[in-house]
Amino acid sequence: CNVVVLISGSGTNLQALIDKTQSGDLPITISAVISNRPDAYGLERTKQAGIQAETLDHKAFDSRESFDQALMQLIDGFNPNLVVLAGFMRILTPEFTNHYLGRMLNIHPSLLPKYQGLHTHQRALDAGDERHGVTVHFVTAELDGGPNAIQAAVPVLADDDADSLSARVQVQEHIIYPLAVQWFAEGRLSMADGKTLLDGEPL
Ligand code: GRF
Repeated sequence: CNVVVLISGSGTNLQALIDKTQSGDLPITISAVISNRPDAYGLERTKQAGIQAETLDHKAFDSRESFDQALMQLIDGFNPNLVVLAGFMRILTPEFTNHYLGRMLNIHPSLLPKYQGLHTHQRALDAGDERHGVTVHFVTAELDGGPNAIQAAVPVLADDDADSLSARVQVQEHIIYPLAVQWFAEGRLSMADGKTLLDGEPL
């Protein structure tokens, strides 16, 4: 399974995918990592792993549409079976999401459908939630709205702040994202008619 990973920042989820690939636990080839930010630390991780690192700076484009068109061309040059959004902090056009429908995954730090969008940890704290977590889902035109592939929950503790809660959630991110990618690579995870299928059964 040929994978292209898109990042904007630190790339700890990317690192989890790299580590599991290098240890032989994840049957994928990461053919490229693309960042929209030239200073993303994930690009360093990419080079250290010997993977091709590309930057496509959204600030060099005058519209969301033109950026997405260029990004599609760049991605498709690698012929991936799967596009993995790993902390890629850009809203994508419907042209883009439809082009990769059923072959693009995202990770979002909440128990979707709760807390789509930003500042999820603080919002869970403000709401007094006892549980919080993370979701891997297929990407559709609806922001953070595509069908779920896997979720992991963590407890919210009395003395948590957004940082401590985020750290607890990230431990789970680094477990479930490689797992979802593995299921996809093995042909077990797919999307049809807007629904997720695992081993041929709707989730
Ligand atoms: C993660 O919290 C992920 O859930 C969110 O962005 C963050 C990316 O972190 N979408 P990293 O760049 O993988 O460290």
